[in-house]
Amino acid sequence: MSQRPLNVGLVGGGGGAFIVQPHQKAIHMDGTRRITAAALHPDPKVAMSEAANWPYPIQGYTSYDEMIAVESKKPVGERVDYVLIVTPNHVHFDPAMKCIQAGIPVFCEKPLTVTVEESDKLVKAVQEKKIPFGVAHTYLGHWTSRFSRHIVTSGLIGEVRWADSYYIQGWLAGRTEDTGSIQAEWRVDPKRAGASCCGGDIGTHALMQLRYVTGLNVTRVQGHLETFVAGRALDDHFTTYCQLSNGGKALVRATQIAIGHKNDLGIEVNGTKGTLQWRQEFPEEVVIKLPNQPDRTYFRGAVSANDGFLKDLPADLMAEPTIPPGHPEAFHDAFARLHRCFEQDVRAYQDGKPFTCDGAKYASVADGRMGLAFVEAAVRSAQKEGAWVDVT
Ligand SMILES: NC(=O)c1ccc[n+]([C@@H]2O[C@H](COP(=O)([O-])OP(=O)(O)OC[C@H]3O[C@@H](n4cnc5c(N)ncnc54)[C@H](O)[C@@H]3O)[C@@H](O)[C@H]2O)c1
Repeated sequence: MSQRPLNVGLVGGGGGAFIVQPHQKAIHMDGTRRITAAALHPDPKVAMSEAANWPYPIQGYTSYDEMIAVESKKPVGERVDYVLIVTPNHVHFDPAMKCIQAGIPVFCEKPLTVTVEESDKLVKAVQEKKIPFGVAHTYLGHWTSRFSRHIVTSGLIGEVRWADSYYIQGWLAGRTEDTGSIQAEWRVDPKRAGASCCGGDIGTHALMQLRYVTGLNVTRVQGHLETFVAGRALDDHFTTYCQLSNGGKALVRATQIAIGHKNDLGIEVNGTKGTLQWRQEFPEEVVIKLPNQPDRTYFRGAVSANDGFLKDLPADLMAEPTIPPGHPEAFHDAFARLHRCFEQDVRAYQDGKPFTCDGAKYASVADGRMGLAFVEAAVRSAQKEGAWVDVT
């Protein structure tokens, strides 16, 4: 008999919210997960009316406190199996901590929290309870990100000397926050976004992509935070020069004022034997450059071992469910891959297996904490005109 689908509860997602939409498509993509409950808005009345008008039936709650209290008393099978947090950054910590304490696994949007201090508390709570917890660094979910990670961490392009990991956008090049964009409004507000707008919002994605693909950590950083649009309390341009844990160096940079750029996240890694390039706007391709050879472009779904460069491709990478090559996989598929992996961990946990996460399938709570440590170090460095600051 087939397994019952997992029940997912939402914190946030009403009132024209953005990232809930790709998540909910991804949650439903395999038929093995479905959204059954939600606290969609901080205003209880709006939360209930939005739930009543949700495209399919869900149990609405007036607040996440109510949802956690009611759902955690239900038996497994009827309660939510995990909660997805898609609220602005300052409303991550409280619902996440309350879910952990109530024994409900959490998949949380990035950045994990608004301070390292809050993130530390979540890391400790997850370790103590051994309860599934993931952070939604979307781009790790691309098959090509996993392929890139294999290429770099298995040494196929040699030792990493230099990497350039970037996220370039243009949507905050003017005063978008004055145009009625709810997404822009809270991102430029230090109380709701945290110590950095651009760094917290998308610099953390660039950092995570670097750490995931190379398997290396950023140990020290020189940070430069700029605000090009007048009247903003936070940065809209974030550049860091980084020391890597293997002795190499990297640029982790993000901007929201580069007119014409949409979601131009990408990474280039220069190793002692070759170079790897990947861009999320062309997420089906990984380019490898080797000395004195034509460039190789690998397409998802059309990769085989022992081609003169690749060897020993991991069985789980090759067995990853995908559609045939040429039918493009993209953003929603990346999200679905994260939820699919998280689902496996939630089911294992429900079968009595203590949760551990090495970050190979989706970002862990410790990865989320590292994002905050990186941003805080960059902010401190920028205050000292770009002096080196340890990322701890
Ligand atoms: N992984 C990604 O690629 C990605 C992309 C965009 C945003 N994000 C992250 O997702 C989060 C949400 O971003 P967004 O752009 O969707 O924001 P948004 O403003 O579009 O949506 C936020 C939602 O949270 C709700 N909300 C706020 N306070 C609440 C509360 N106390 N209780 C219940 N609901 C509440 C709002 O009503 C709204 O529905 C942010 O942390 C952001 O950094 C991640």
